[in-house]
Parts: sequence; C-alpha cells; structure tokens
Amino acid sequence: MREVCILTIWGFTLLLLKISSCTGDSNVVNPCCYFPCQHAGVCVRFDTDRFECDCTDTGFYGENCTTPEFWTRIRQMLKPRPSFLHFFLTHFHWFWKFVNSSFLRDTFMKLVLTARTHFIPSPPTFNSKYGYLNWESFYNLSYYTRLLPPVPEDCPLPMGTIGKPTLPNPKLLLPFFKRTKFRPDPQGTSVMFVFMAQHFTHQFFQTDFQSKRGFTKALGHGIDAGHIYGGDLRRQLHLRLFKDGKLKYQLINGDVYPPKLSEAPVHMLYPKHVPPEERLAIGHAQFGLLPGLTMYATLWLREHNRVCDVLKAEHPTWNDEQLFQTSRLIIIGEIICIVIEEYVQQLSGYLMKLKFDPEMLFDAQFQYSNRIALEFSLLYHWHPLVPDSFHIDGHEIPLSQFLFNTSTVWRFGIEKLVDGFSRQHAGQICGGYNSHESLLYVSEMVLNGSREARVQPFNQYRRRFGLKPYASFKEFTDSEEMAKGLEELYGDIEALEFYPGLLLEKPIPGAILGESMVEMGAPFSLKGVLSNPICSPHYWKPSTFGGETGFNIIKTATLKKLVCQNTKWCPYVDYHVPRNEEEAKPRQPPSEL
Ligand code: HEM
Ligand SMILES: *[C@@H]1O[C@H](CO)[C@@H](O)[C@H](O)[C@H]1NC(C)=O
Ligand SMILES: *[C@@H]1O[C@H](CO)[C@@H](O)[C@H](O)[C@H]1NC(C)=O
Ligand SMILES: *[C@@H]1O[C@H](CO)[C@@H](O)[C@H](O)[C@H]1NC(C)=O
Ligand SMILES: *[C@@H]1O[C@H](CO)[C@@H](O)[C@H](O)[C@H]1NC(C)=O
Ligand SMILES: *[C@@H]1O[C@H](CO)[C@@H](O)[C@H](O)[C@H]1NC(C)=O
Repeated sequence: MREVCILTIWGFTLLLLKISSCTGDSNVVNPCCYFPCQHAGVCVRFDTDRFECDCTDTGFYGENCTTPEFWTRIRQMLKPRPSFLHFFLTHFHWFWKFVNSSFLRDTFMKLVLTARTHFIPSPPTFNSKYGYLNWESFYNLSYYTRLLPPVPEDCPLPMGTIGKPTLPNPKLLLPFFKRTKFRPDPQGTSVMFVFMAQHFTHQFFQTDFQSKRGFTKALGHGIDAGHIYGGDLRRQLHLRLFKDGKLKYQLINGDVYPPKLSEAPVHMLYPKHVPPEERLAIGHAQFGLLPGLTMYATLWLREHNRVCDVLKAEHPTWNDEQLFQTSRLIIIGEIICIVIEEYVQQLSGYLMKLKFDPEMLFDAQFQYSNRIALEFSLLYHWHPLVPDSFHIDGHEIPLSQFLFNTSTVWRFGIEKLVDGFSRQHAGQICGGYNSHESLLYVSEMVLNGSREARVQPFNQYRRRFGLKPYASFKEFTDSEEMAKGLEELYGDIEALEFYPGLLLEKPIPGAILGESMVEMGAPFSLKGVLSNPICSPHYWKPSTFGGETGFNIIKTATLKKLVCQNTKWCPYVDYHVPRNEEEAKPRQPPSEL
C-alpha cells in the first residue's frame, strides 16, 4: 500500500513517495526492540505487536523472565557481588598465602573456572546475520558468534527504543579516549605484557573488515598458534623448513630470526618504504607492524625449533611431519600455561595463585569447543596500554619510529628488547583519557564497526553477565566532565554503546580494568583457553606430546624460560615492572659476548 504525503518545508514542496512509513502496520514497534527478556531469556516476535520470552534454563520465569525460581532466589542471596569478590581476591594476604600452598588452591581455581565459563554458550548461538538459532550460523565458521543478537533492523532508534535518533558522531567521543598525560597502570603491568596481549589475541581476532565485522579469517576460533604457523595450510607450508619439523629461519649477527620474505613468500603487510631485506615472513600477516610483535614471533619460532630438537633426540625415527605436528601441540600448551599462570595472573591482580590444570574440569560440565565472539574482539581493543615511547638500552624511541621498523629487533637483539619492555610501565586500560593520540583512529574504527554490526547497548551486556545495569552516567564514571558530556551525547545511560561503555568505565580502585571489562572479559578468555582440544581428556596425556618430556615442557612453561632458553643471556623478563631493588638492577651480557 502506498500513500503520498505532501510536505511543505520552508516554501519548498516535496513530493515524498513513502513506501512504508505512512502505512498503518509499520507504526507498530517490534516489541523485541524494548529488549524485554531479562536474564538471557530469548525474545520471539508473534503477530506484529506481541512477543514471548523463552526463559528456559535461565532460572527465571514470568512474562519477561524476571521472577526467580526458588533455587535461583537462594543462589542470589548467597552470591557475593563482583566488587566484593574482587576486593576479597586482592586483599587478605595471610589467607591467600595459605591458599597458595594448600589443596584449597585447586578448589578455588576450579570455582573460578566454572563460575566464569558458564556465561558462554557452547555450542555457540547468534551471529551478526542471525538473531535466532539456525544451522547456517552453527556450521559456517567464518562468522564470529555473538552473545546477544544484533539490535533488530526495524527498531525505531539505533539502540532500540531509547536514546537519540542518531548516535553521536564518533569524533565527539574521541576526546574522552584521548590521552592527556600518560597514566600508568596501578597494578604495575609492563610493556612486555602489552605486546603479549596484542600478539596472543591476534591469532583468534582477525576480523574481516570488508563485511561489517561479522566475519573472521581465523577459523581456529581459539588458541591454534595460527599466528606462528600461518592461518591455513598453504601459508604453513611456505613457513616450514621440512627438516626435523622446524620452521624456516635466518641468521643475523649469529642469532635466529624469522626468514626473509623472499625465502618464504607469504602475504605480509609492509608499507613501500620497508626495504626487502627488512621484510620478514611470519605466521600472521601484520606482525611486521611493531618490533614488539616481531620479538614475540622470533621467540616462538626459536622455541618451536628448540622443542623439535628435544623431541628428535628422544624419537630419532620420527619424520619431519610428526616432529612438526607434535611440537605445535607443545607450543599451544606452553601458550596456554603462560597465559593462565602469568598473563591472566598479572591482569587479574589476584593474590590467589592461578593454576593451569585441565584435569580440574574433567568431572565438570564443560564443552571442548569454542567460537570467538564479536563482542570479545571489540572488548579487547586495549590500545590505552600503549605508552608514548619505548625505552630500550638507554634510548627513547617514539611510537612513530617503531611502526614497521623490523630492523629494531636485530639492532638491539631480543635480550635488550625484552629487558627494556619488562622494565617499562604500560598504560591503564579503563577510565578513558589514556589513548595515544595517534591511536584514536582505532577507537573511531571500532565505534563505526560496532554500529554497523548493530551491537546492543552496554547495559544490556551488563545484564547478560549478571551485573547491575548502571542507573546514570555519574555512577558509570568518576569524571564529572565525562558524565556530563556522555549524558549530552547519548541522552540516556541505557543508550550508551558497548565499546565506550567498557573502555571509559571507571576502573576498579587500584586496578587496570573496570568491573565490566573483568566480568565480561574473563568468561570469554577462560572459556577460550580451556576449551582447547589439548585440554580434553583424550588429548591431555603424555603420548600426545611425545612422552613425559614434552608433557612436562607444557606443565612447567614460563615466560622466563621462553626467553632465557632461547637467548644468549637472561634479561629481566616479567609482565610486571621490577618489584624490588634486586629486580631493578641492570642486566648486562656476559663480557665474552
Ligand atoms: C601501536 C600499536 C597498535 C596499533 C598501531 C594498532 C592498530 C590497530 C588497528 C588499526 C586495528 C583495526 C581497528 C578495528 O578493529 O577497527 C586494530 C585492531 C585491534 N587491536 Fe590494535 N593496534 C596497536 C596495539 C594494540 C595492542 C597493544 C592491543 C592489545 C590487546 C591491540 C588489540 C587489538 C585488537 C584486539 C584488535 C581487533 C583485531 C581484530 O578484530 O581483527 N592493539 N589495532
Ligand atoms: C515486560 O516487558 C514489557 C516491555 O518492556 C513491559 O511493557 C511489561 O510491562 C513487562 N511485564 C512485566 C510483567 O514486567
Ligand atoms: C559463510 O557465509 C558467507 C556469507 O554468507 C559465505 O560467503 C561463505 O561462503 C560461507 N562459508 C561456508 C563455508 O559456507
Ligand atoms: C600467591 O601466588 C601468586 C602467584 O605466584 C602471587 O602473585 C601472590 O602474591 C601469592 N599470594 C600471596 C599472598 O603470597
Ligand atoms: C627505526 O628505528 C631507529 C631507532 O631504533 C631509528 O633511528 C630509525 O629512524 C627508525 N626508522 C624509521 C623508518 O622510522
Ligand atoms: C567512521 O565513519 C564516519 C561516517 O561514516 C566516516 O566519516 C569516518 O571516516 C569513519 N572513520 C574511520 C576511522 O573509519
């Protein structure tokens, strides 16, 4: 049905052919645009104006899944608030000192793992195209999954039914991201952590930017070490030496580095000005971007080849293929161990000693499959970590001179890079006003992208993760200027977007992250790490890793070993800046070098 509406504006007569908006039916708002279903209930539209919430397995019932069942009520009463739990886990030294060295450590660790991972549905549910379950979205691994469906296309407002008719111009939000003065993370995180975060996460975040962010190029959906070995078989074959299971390499000043691009012709992203001899071939196409990434690429390459030697010594009959494949599994195990016991340990600030032990979950309800979520990728844009410049061996190198400057890696050598990075403070991630000016365009890209993907409002995700939605911008941030500015731009706290919500939220006192980042990030992260096939009962045994030797390499992996078993001398290496005078002492290469 058509209707011709005649509008007169300032003397101009416009003839508007309106196909739908003048017709009766379309004035009815899709009831799911009100996000009526609480506690992860599913909204289904019936007729034109009716909805039903499917509350199955949410622990709640009622029209909008708001009434708790009996056991839910009990659990709600007993469940401590996240802020209390965080306080508990970061205070009471004497208690955690005892827990750290007793059987209680296992009990608490298991509790942490099960409490966190149950937020993540497995098998996965929605994606950017489908706000309902279907076979295509389960089967097609190119999609990122989504925890909450997109805001329906036919909603009257960009954030459903609340907020302004258009979202604020991203440029107007950037002042809240922009660094005024470098604010170091109060937990003492080092730049060594910063590049680990970027290096580690880019194996499973490889957004295909051509398609509204709904798709990924990393089909492993987890820790597959594709950033070391290449995301597909073609790339892997170029990077392999086909001798003793090893990866190709080159020697510079007598040390091992990734091979020249001419020796391993894979697709890499280098700007024109980078000379051919400084173009390296690495598993991930973008890891020539920063010397910190190239440093980790070098360390893992050396470690892979070292593990190949260890395996070959015990299995002289094994061919190249078996040595390669088994070493890869060991490398995956090492990554997981270092991520849980050192990286997450540092990030959490917990006084409890975290433990990587897949056997903890063998008697729990736990699925060994994972699908990376779009929300996880948006959440992990931790660009405020990046400092203004880098301090290496007495030099101060600005970020601008770091970009695509691969030769920095061998000019200083891995030892001095590690030493410098481990001593330098990283930036605090949450709270705003801490992103380097030259990285503000990244925040703008994320804002643009999350709008294209129609990501639901921040408060919806607070609810999804069992958190109390914020009632006002004042409650959300301690900065009056920001509260006022955001209020003007968004009109309503319920219309605040997901990404600015996570990054600008006030940090937990004394912490690097805000509450939402912890409560939403930890489930994705722990689920992603522990659902790896090597953590499952049929894989987690010595034979998978070539015997006890390989199995032990995984179980005892540390960042320090990763570095010091693959360098000529042992620098200061930690995700934390030096804690005492002993650690702060300068380290020098032994004089014979
Ligand atoms: C100077 C250093 C860095 C530069 C120049 C840089 C640049 C970029 C750019 C241009 C993007 C694409 C933006 C988008 O998603 O729309 C991006 C994505 C991303 N960055 Fe960075 N970044 C840097 C450091 C870091 C660090 C330290 C982290 C730490 C976690 C990080 C995490 C990410 C993540 C998770 C993505 C999304 C990747 C994807 O989904 O494909 N970046 N970065
Ligand atoms: C359920 O949500 C709808 C839409 O937000 C609202 O109109 C209705 O009053 C709610 N029902 C109950 C029982 O709270
Ligand atoms: C996944 O979906 C995309 C978009 O519909 C399509 O181009 C691609 O071929 C699909 N992949 C598979 C393996 O079906
Ligand atoms: C328990 O162990 C962790 C990890 O080693 C450490 O960071 C923490 O300080 C320890 N807790 C106490 C109270 O000593
Ligand atoms: C690369 O880094 C060095 C310092 O390590 C600097 O002197 C040089 O100018 C940088 N090159 C570029 C192209 O920025
Ligand atoms: C974000 O989108 C706006 C509007 O479409 C566009 O003008 C701007 O260039 C985009 N920014 C980035 C960094 O892609």
